[in-house]
Amino acid sequence: MFASARMHHGVVIVTCWLAGFVTCLLFFQYSKNCESFTFASIPEQSLIIESSNDNKSTHPPPAQQEKPILLLWVWPENYRFDFSDCKTIYNIDGCHLTDDRNLYNQADAVLIFHKAIKWDLSNLPPSPRPPFQRWIWFHVESPTNTPKIPGLENLFNLTLSYRRSADISVRYPLTVSKTPNKEFELPKKDKLLCWFVSNNNPSTGTGTRMKYYEELKKHINVKIFGSLSGSRMKSEDYFPTMASCKFYLSFENSIHKDYITEKLNGPLAVGTVPVVLGPPRENYEQFAPGDSFIHVNDFPSAELLAQHLLRLDKDDEAYRHYFDWRKHVSANRHLTIWNQEFITYICHACEYIGIHKEYKQAHDIYNWFFS
Ligand SMILES: *[C@@H]1O[C@H](CO)[C@@H](O)[C@H](O)[C@H]1NC(C)=O
Ligand SMILES: *[C@@H]1O[C@H](CO)[C@@H](O)[C@H](O)[C@H]1NC(C)=O
Repeated sequence: MFASARMHHGVVIVTCWLAGFVTCLLFFQYSKNCESFTFASIPEQSLIIESSNDNKSTHPPPAQQEKPILLLWVWPENYRFDFSDCKTIYNIDGCHLTDDRNLYNQADAVLIFHKAIKWDLSNLPPSPRPPFQRWIWFHVESPTNTPKIPGLENLFNLTLSYRRSADISVRYPLTVSKTPNKEFELPKKDKLLCWFVSNNNPSTGTGTRMKYYEELKKHINVKIFGSLSGSRMKSEDYFPTMASCKFYLSFENSIHKDYITEKLNGPLAVGTVPVVLGPPRENYEQFAPGDSFIHVNDFPSAELLAQHLLRLDKDDEAYRHYFDWRKHVSANRHLTIWNQEFITYICHACEYIGIHKEYKQAHDIYNWFFS
């Protein structure tokens, strides 16, 4: 009795569904307004194509329409690039990236570059914020170089940063391959220890690394490139020059958890041994094999580190062991043209917005970032 009633119920539903479908198809002959009766199994586009006398260019392809809109509120440092680079360089195409503020009310997410925010907040997007819209806090610097602009504490739903605990964490990941990589060919080396350095401003936290460098250079020759040496390095020289050095000083400007930048990725990508100064070794080992770099803390003094490097300079076999990790792991070159500095962050925000729809309440970014 119960079963047959339910079956009867089912028959009615199917019949109604079919009736509705047929009605709608008939209705569709006269009107294109069949949106409320589109089933997932019927691609919208096929309905549009069947409709006659339609100028197709007035209907943008639905796939493109459905992509969430990510509005870049300001260009970081005014370093502009072509949004289509996200597709060309990273194969990221999951959102509609725009800098057109006219789309603000439709934007699924707004990307706001921390350093561009005015102290009085007058250049933030207007209120009221559309209820579905997520704001992304976009910041690439370490806490030492983060102005704590008041009033931003509870505005942002998502964070975009180098931090592993950020909602959108942007790093330079090493990749693992199952089949062994082809035998690594060591680039030709004509320099022992190099350092590319431009920022020497102690207020940005560079004191620690300068102090270490001053001590180190008493015991080993450090070849300096970049504006500290009097001339800026051209982006096309960056990788070849780095590759010609046996060791490279991957010294971060300030010391913070996870703050391990392209200064590590560059030497790993080209086949140079990074000598790192930054967070503790364990933190580095979360991103790169422990035998792929030398940590300054591996030695009780700069002098002993220098002695180790000088010893390796004379012992090719021992030096080569610093490349054993490459058998199954590889590092990829990062972008080095000046206007590309923020492109990977922006593209990855786009990728994230294309995938993630979860609700997230704004939280105190400073409480998270400075702790
Ligand atoms: C379709 O629209 C485009 C752009 O508005 C126009 O140039 C073209 O003449 C139109 N074609 C027809 C068949 O109406
Ligand atoms: C974003 O955060 C604000 C402030 O907490 C909140 O009102 C809003 O609902 C959140 N939006 C989304 C889409 O998560």
